Parts: sequence; C-alpha cells; structure tokens
Amino acid sequence: MELPVGLAVFCVLYFTGLAGAQRDCYEGCINNVCNVTNGVCSEGCRDGFYGQRCDRNCGECRNKPCDKRTGSCKEGCEAGWRGSSCKQGRIDL
Ligand SMILES: *[C@@H]1O[C@H](CO)[C@@H](O)[C@H](O)[C@H]1NC(C)=O
Repeated sequence: MELPVGLAVFCVLYFTGLAGAQRDCYEGCINNVCNVTNGVCSEGCRDGFYGQRCDRNCGECRNKPCDKRTGSCKEGCEAGWRGSSCKQGRIDL
C-alpha cells in the first residue's frame, strides 16, 4: 500500500513526536523491537522479510526465505517467477 507523502510525513512526525518513545516497528521485525529513531529492527528480520527495517516482503523464493539484507533468493525462484528477488511477474504456462 502506498501512502500519500503528506500522510506518510504526518505518520512519521506522529510516531517520533507526539507518541514520544513509542514507535511502531514494521511487522517484519523479530520480537517487534526496533530503533526508536530510525526504525531499524534491533534483532533482525523474521523469515520472509528483508531490509534494515524489515519492511519489505520476500519474493517467491524456492526453498528458503530471501536474504534478509538484500532480498535476493539464495536458491532461485518458484516456478514462473524470476529476477534476483523473484518478484518479477509470473509467466503463464
Ligand atoms: C538508533 O539510530 C540512531 C540513528 O541512526 C543511532 O544514533 C542510535 O545509536 C541507534 N540506537 C540504537 C539503540 O541502536
């Protein structure tokens, strides 16, 4: 889901300002703990998420979840998917 920029800025200000030290971590953070300042997950990402804030979903990786730093799939893609992170469109067979 893409938020309008204005709303996104409001949310950031809300979470960092009004709500004090409370900040919503992204759902991909292990144990839902993250750096209050920048949202970086303190204990890394759960399987299936990647990026510093674990706010990005892995693509359709074969066997193992994607690399938690880069999002690339280590053992290739599920059938019909391509790209290093296996997010590129399904090929209809
Ligand atoms: C959180 O991020 C800020 C800004 O990058 C950094 O200065 C601070 O040391 C970090 N805090 C922790 C607990 O990692």
